[in-house]
Amino acid sequence: MCGIVGYIGKEEALPVLLEGIKNLEYRGYDSAGFAILGEDEKVSGEKAVGKISALAEKVGGRKFGGKTGIIHSRWATHGGVTEANAHPHSDCKGVIWLAHNGIVENYKELKDELNKKGHSFKSETDTEVIAHLIEEELNPVRSRAPAQGGSPEGTAGAATSNGTFSNAVRNALKKIRGTYGLVILKSDEPDTLVAARNFSPLLVGLGEGEYIVASDAAAVLKHAKNVLYLDDGEMAVLTRDGHRVFDLEMRERDKESQVIDWSPERAQKNCYPHFMLKEIFEGPEAVENSVRGRLVLEEGNAKLGGLEKVMPALRNAKRILISACGTAYHAGRVGEYMLEEYGGIPVETDIASEFRYRKPVFREGDVFLAISQSGETADTLAALREAKEKGVPALAVVNVVGSTIARYADAGVYQHIGPEIGVASTKAFVSQVSILALLTLLIGRQREMSVVMGRRIANELTKIPELMRKILKQSDNVATLARKYGKYGNFLYLGRKYNLPVAYEGALKLKEISYVHAEGCGAGEMKHGSIAMIDENFPSVFIAPQDSVYEKMISNIEEIKARRGLVIAVATEGDKKIADIADDVIYIPKTLEMLTPLLSVVPLQLFAYHFGVLRGLDVDKPRNLAKSVTVE
Ligand code: G6P
Repeated sequence: MCGIVGYIGKEEALPVLLEGIKNLEYRGYDSAGFAILGEDEKVSGEKAVGKISALAEKVGGRKFGGKTGIIHSRWATHGGVTEANAHPHSDCKGVIWLAHNGIVENYKELKDELNKKGHSFKSETDTEVIAHLIEEELNPVRSRAPAQGGSPEGTAGAATSNGTFSNAVRNALKKIRGTYGLVILKSDEPDTLVAARNFSPLLVGLGEGEYIVASDAAAVLKHAKNVLYLDDGEMAVLTRDGHRVFDLEMRERDKESQVIDWSPERAQKNCYPHFMLKEIFEGPEAVENSVRGRLVLEEGNAKLGGLEKVMPALRNAKRILISACGTAYHAGRVGEYMLEEYGGIPVETDIASEFRYRKPVFREGDVFLAISQSGETADTLAALREAKEKGVPALAVVNVVGSTIARYADAGVYQHIGPEIGVASTKAFVSQVSILALLTLLIGRQREMSVVMGRRIANELTKIPELMRKILKQSDNVATLARKYGKYGNFLYLGRKYNLPVAYEGALKLKEISYVHAEGCGAGEMKHGSIAMIDENFPSVFIAPQDSVYEKMISNIEEIKARRGLVIAVATEGDKKIADIADDVIYIPKTLEMLTPLLSVVPLQLFAYHFGVLRGLDVDKPRNLAKSVTVE
């Protein structure tokens, strides 16, 4: 959460920063701000509550000359959503300016100490202490005249350096307990930018004669194809002459850069009104890209190069422990059904935030699997670490190449779906489910799955993208349905077996995008509680394709109808029976039962999207949420 971008190079910094941070806005959008360092060693800047557009509007046509600068979009943790709490934050004299993603856990103690030493604070944030800690390293407040508050428009005071900038940062960081992705500038060193990381993602784009530091790759694509991913406890010192990476003991690290193959266009909306809609429509391509080159149709098997080195462990695995958050967790739950039914292996799927605290009991033969689009979700990463530290082979399904989870896992499978920008995850879900289907083939074929069954699954998987495209053509009809049901404030989503996680996912999408109460529930479980809520003002969405639990679903629909509940059903094409009982039906093509989630989720994504749009909400950036949740 929180997006940060820093720039040092040959271009005017502000346009680069604004463009970069717009691509990271999904990380947080409570407030935004920037600081630009001019050649006259004067720091100027602006802050605004709200989205980047509010900041850009405030800037208007004003010029902020300077080729070094930092910018931030905030997802508030410590301190309310106010301009004073917006980043960047500075020290007493406005010499040190920094943007931070993460949490300083011991900030209260540090702030008290700094207050005693004479520092004056301008915000309620934990971040500001870092600026003062650096200041204290460079030029202790007690040893000089009383402070004058630094302001973004103020002239920087002249600090008498007691040490180098990077040394001071290093010493300050050693006092911090917590997480950070940081980019820092110092007004009297216009040719240096320092970036540091501990548990919050940070990378340095290596452009031509320029560096662009960012929380994730989406911000650097236009300027750099080669990036350095910083590891925990690393600090990069970027100057106009080159870059160096150190650990906090100032030992230089030799780091290799990685190539990002996403084109900048992929991070644009193109002709779509919202990223979310674009990404729903990219679902079929996402499945194609995740499956491409990985199916061995003849053998009814899958080939996952990234898992080669853990094949012996997979072959002998006795249990798979899946851990993930949000939408990725729902994909994991679908995987659980697939892997148990066709892979022939016991699976337990956990919400990562629970897994990390519930002291899981590991057994010989366990294999851990993290699923994360961003590869940065703090809870998922912690769960992976827990498994790895206990000696369990730790695998991951990740989209973002080079992300922390991708690098930390023992082996993994990349999704290859390009950037997902909409905060509500859509194309990542179908990609993750299709990769779990590949894993099911791989594991199943080592066990009991016959070649005939393997071929059936593999063949059907290749047809999924076309079937998804067929459903997408119904987008306008789904919009009409969203209009019809737009007045309701509560929805129950019901499914069984493979489509139970889809019910959870459909409800999650509606909640995220529309702020409407929606609950996912096992259709068999509803009679134990949720059905009590049903009346004519509480519609239900049934995911009821013609599969092994179809008859049961029909009975559950009848039960809702008997209580005057309205029913929208997602059903298999040609199913007339369901049309007679449900109030409205969205049809999806027939496919293998285990692959139905790849189809049934699509109308639910569209429904949530249109519902949110009709309510006039910003569906790409729903309130209070962030795309990449890097705090607990
Ligand atoms: C956030 C996002 C969700 C996402 C979840 C897990 O909550 O808003 O859309 O599903 O994080 O993200 P990950 O990157 O780990 O898949």
